[in-house]
Amino acid sequence: MEKQINKRTQRIVDRLETLGSISDDDKCVSRFFGTKAHIESRKVLIEWMKDAGMTVSCDNMGNIRGILASTNPEAKHFVVASHYDSVFDAGKYDGPLGILLGIEMAKKVSDSNQSLPFHLDVVAFADEEGGRFNTAYLGSCVLAGNFDHSWLSRKDDQGSTLEEVINNAGGNIDNISQDMIPKDDWLGYFEIHIEQGPVLEKEDLPVCLVSGIAGQTRVDVKWTGMAGHAGTCPMDIRQDALCAAAEFTLAMEALGKKHKENLVATVGKLNVGPNTSNVVSGFVYNTLDIRSMDDAFLSQRVEEAESIAKSIGEKRAVQCDWQVMQSNASVNCDSRLRAVLGRGINNSGVERLLEIPSGAGHDGVMISRVAPISMLFVRCKGGISHNPLEYSSPQDIMASLEVCDQFLTELKTASEFNF
Ligand code: GLV
Ligand code: MN
Ligand code: MN
Repeated sequence: MEKQINKRTQRIVDRLETLGSISDDDKCVSRFFGTKAHIESRKVLIEWMKDAGMTVSCDNMGNIRGILASTNPEAKHFVVASHYDSVFDAGKYDGPLGILLGIEMAKKVSDSNQSLPFHLDVVAFADEEGGRFNTAYLGSCVLAGNFDHSWLSRKDDQGSTLEEVINNAGGNIDNISQDMIPKDDWLGYFEIHIEQGPVLEKEDLPVCLVSGIAGQTRVDVKWTGMAGHAGTCPMDIRQDALCAAAEFTLAMEALGKKHKENLVATVGKLNVGPNTSNVVSGFVYNTLDIRSMDDAFLSQRVEEAESIAKSIGEKRAVQCDWQVMQSNASVNCDSRLRAVLGRGINNSGVERLLEIPSGAGHDGVMISRVAPISMLFVRCKGGISHNPLEYSSPQDIMASLEVCDQFLTELKTASEFNF
């Protein structure tokens, strides 16, 4: 029998709608880093964190950080976080759900005037998807102290650099290194996220543990051929950049399918120049996103993909420029936090404990460089994500909130940590 949805869960559901309505496109959800809607959405996040009793600030990258301070001045920070940027034509849950659950965790502690043996931070990261600059985890890089200043000259599709976008959004790049949490100040990291896959639905469970996060490489591929007249340029002398990119796209699909137990490969973005019906394409930019849990295997496949691209270019007399934009190895969730979270799941009454790896990327990848990380997955309908059909039921959100509360209760006295 379905339980009555409680007030806290209803607040999360309502806030998901509110955030989902803040978009740069009036027909769909879109909040790329540094856009009008992205900046606008900070206001409600700040207000909600303040309402949960936290001291709130916005850093130079646009990460919103609420802190519920412990009375113990020696305390470390336990950070609950997710991201508020989105892909284009996104769902309402990928990112925001984890932030809103974190805010409810903090609100419960604050409303009951408890002091935890650690500072409880809730962070809304400014850019996880990397939709604008093809660089995932820009927000969490800053908190982890890993921001790479060479990224500042990267350009978006309109030619704006990352540096300009950060400045226009109110940040100061000179101060970005001050926004990190030093390694010694971290107790741990927790992220709640929709599963974005079909396992929980199949297993008939509302939530599960995450064992680790897949490695991921993102590549920019530029094809330079020769633009020409579609009516007069003979077929056998063409240097058609779009045909090269198309052949490469299908080759990446074949590569992924060939190793489907261990690899996914996606060409998700294609900019065609001049993009005109009666002109043979002279220039194409496309992305490649390629992932695996097996790091050595992934780097071999990236090399293979590059040599496929180069041979397509040679065969078609189209120049191929290959630039790896980002490469992150797979990471494991921390065994101690996994044990504590597992007890939280059991205590909350969830019937079975299940643990699965994440094929999707998450900010935990960056944070794992400085702190032990943990993650909880929440069932989502049909495993659909990066799509407006994305959906988690209020029942499942309520079950995950109960797990979050129980996790915090367990963590306060966990023998795995010395408070
Ligand atoms: C983020 O959703 C990613 O996995 O790319
Ligand atoms: Mn996403
Ligand atoms: Mn996400």
